[in-house]
Amino acid sequence: MKTEKGFVEEEIPEGMDLAREIKRLKEEKNAVILAHYYTVGAIQDVADFIGDSLALARIAEKLDNPVIVMCGVHFMGETVKILCPDRKVLVPDLNAGCSLADSCPAGELAEFIARHPGHTVISYVNTSADVKALTDIVVTSGNALKIVGSLPEDEKIIFGPDRNLGNYINSQTGRDMVLWDGACHVHEKFSLDGIVELKKAHPEAKVLVHPECPAPVRLLADKVGSTAVLLKWAAESDACEFIVATESGILHEMQRQCPDKTFYPAPPQGETCGCNDCAYMKLNTLEKLYLTLKYEQPEVTVDPAIIDRARRPIERMLALS
Ligand code: 13P
Ligand code: SF4
Repeated sequence: MKTEKGFVEEEIPEGMDLAREIKRLKEEKNAVILAHYYTVGAIQDVADFIGDSLALARIAEKLDNPVIVMCGVHFMGETVKILCPDRKVLVPDLNAGCSLADSCPAGELAEFIARHPGHTVISYVNTSADVKALTDIVVTSGNALKIVGSLPEDEKIIFGPDRNLGNYINSQTGRDMVLWDGACHVHEKFSLDGIVELKKAHPEAKVLVHPECPAPVRLLADKVGSTAVLLKWAAESDACEFIVATESGILHEMQRQCPDKTFYPAPPQGETCGCNDCAYMKLNTLEKLYLTLKYEQPEVTVDPAIIDRARRPIERMLALS
């Protein structure tokens, strides 16, 4: 068994029923599996809880399992570790990063904050633990509007790292937050023309857009919201067809909850990629999840001094949302 590459490497016997083995190991170790909506469908099907980043943080806070497997990206594992520091927190592949979190290194953010004295620092949950330690309040796409709206109107705010989500909040709340210039490689890439063409082909379809998408794509939306908000809106809508401008993994749960409705993934720009997958989320596979549970590796670690400082803005978020 080797983990040098950031995940456990071992040959898996042919024909093994991975879902059954995962269930067995989970029970044997009193482990719990959390999965983000963007993970592959096979992982969502074996998870104990699936959700958006806000729901997963709330669930993690209430768990008492000694082993927590976070099937998502690295910062999501860190968030769980910060909320549950005495537990073993595992992610199937430590290489599952996030282009948005990577766009905001803690050292550069510290300089940015120093250049804007007197500002409250609000960070999107898609950030490293080091960035959260520099933050006053963490938000997710599910609660950002509510939390920013709850602050005094004259409060000076730095918002990072997603410029699109920051712009969206400014436009909805009339604020003038100072924005960090970061973005997500999936949500930046949706093709405006492609969505318009899809809408022409399916004129009755409602357009669902994640707020990490740029403003021109958001303007086409019937609903803008976090993954959980889009899911609920689609389930409750009278419409039968939807064009979905967020990572493709969400379609698995949308289709499961609404078997009679049709969901079309919004196309990305360019000819090279026919999908809108988050390459990082898709590093998590059922095989790696099985080996992670078997060997309780690889483990997410966060410096205890950082845990202390990063916990406060997350708890503030949970209290405000
Ligand atoms: P949610 O907050 O909607 O779960 O989104 C997380 C994310 O990574 C979006 O790209
Ligand atoms: Fe990060 Fe974008 Fe992947 Fe979400 S979809 S985890 S923001 S890279």
